[in-house]
Amino acid sequence: MSDQNWPLWMPLRDDLKPLSPYGAPQVPAQATLNTNESPYPPSPALAQAIADRVYSVATNLNRYPDRDAVTLRGALAKFINSLSDTSFGAEEIWAANGSNEIIQSLFMAFGERPALGFTPSYSMHPLIAKVIGTKWNDGGRRADFSLDLAKAISDIAKVKPGLTFITTPNNPTGTTVTLAEIEELLIATGKINGLLIVDEAYAEFSDQSSAVTLLAKYSNLVVIRTMSKAFAFAGARLGYLVANKELVSAMFLVRLPYHLSSLTQAAAEVALQYQSELLGNVSTLIDSRKSVVAALEELGLQVIPSQANFILFSGFPMEPAQLWRQMLDRGVLIRDVGLLAHLRMTIGNEAENQKFIQALQEILNGDGQ
Ligand SMILES: Cc1ncc(COP(=O)(O)O)c(C=O)c1O
Repeated sequence: MSDQNWPLWMPLRDDLKPLSPYGAPQVPAQATLNTNESPYPPSPALAQAIADRVYSVATNLNRYPDRDAVTLRGALAKFINSLSDTSFGAEEIWAANGSNEIIQSLFMAFGERPALGFTPSYSMHPLIAKVIGTKWNDGGRRADFSLDLAKAISDIAKVKPGLTFITTPNNPTGTTVTLAEIEELLIATGKINGLLIVDEAYAEFSDQSSAVTLLAKYSNLVVIRTMSKAFAFAGARLGYLVANKELVSAMFLVRLPYHLSSLTQAAAEVALQYQSELLGNVSTLIDSRKSVVAALEELGLQVIPSQANFILFSGFPMEPAQLWRQMLDRGVLIRDVGLLAHLRMTIGNEAENQKFIQALQEILNGDGQ
């Protein structure tokens, strides 16, 4: 709940007044490990290729962009096909300014009935629901943060949500849901004419097959992906969904005209041509994740098994907010996700991970030895 006192002269919607804006702290730190970005910047060759393409687009900025971003959506389809051995075309892809905008569009199009999710999970799902005015139901998870599938299926039958959200790998836990479980959820949501939204923002870090492989069988499936994480392109803001053609057609009803700028479309098209370079660091990050987990366990901490580029850990002898502050005092910015006794850290580059471990060692041992 926000404690902000909104002025009476401002006709702010009553249902927005108690909300707080999304706000991962953007503060300077030597190791920024709080928003699950890639620590690896584009290579000089890619930066130059983007700059060249942006220059050529800039000569035409008096004109609106391609409203339907057909070339970009075709390139995204090709990218997904190359990862998952599928055969999607542009008409099965929708793209927007980050997957957050994709989530917002889904609520705008399909958010009349309540929505259902299983927290702890990505905090923007319920927040965007509230902003759009969709009632949010939380099905919860087990104490170890795993999904209770039988309970989830019974919640779906009870709540009859228009939209049911599953995040895999889940943020902030890093845990996954299997394709077999997703199929059961697709059947349950299908029975009540609801959509299952599988948020795969971190899919490239996981060894599980993508849910896009189920689309041929289930038309009520929507898979959300982003270029912000494994693709190391968070600053460009490009998220997308893969879904049935009819569902993509419904996105045209709620999108703002020309929502994706020519510059964004051009930059993303170039980045997709550098797919192998950009995804090249995924295996490095997975190896680093394993080393960081081992180091934390050596410090006597517990880590939830993660298939993403972040880990959720516990077992420290102070409040999360206190440890978060002490880490920041040592130049390491991690994330307090508001979970009792847990903190989340994003896997960084070698130097950042070492700084993280060293700071933690100093705090927990009191001496840094
Ligand atoms: C599960 C999940 N979905 C979606 C997003 C939004 O990403 P973006 O809007 O940068 O595509 C995030 C970002 O942290 C996330 O963790």
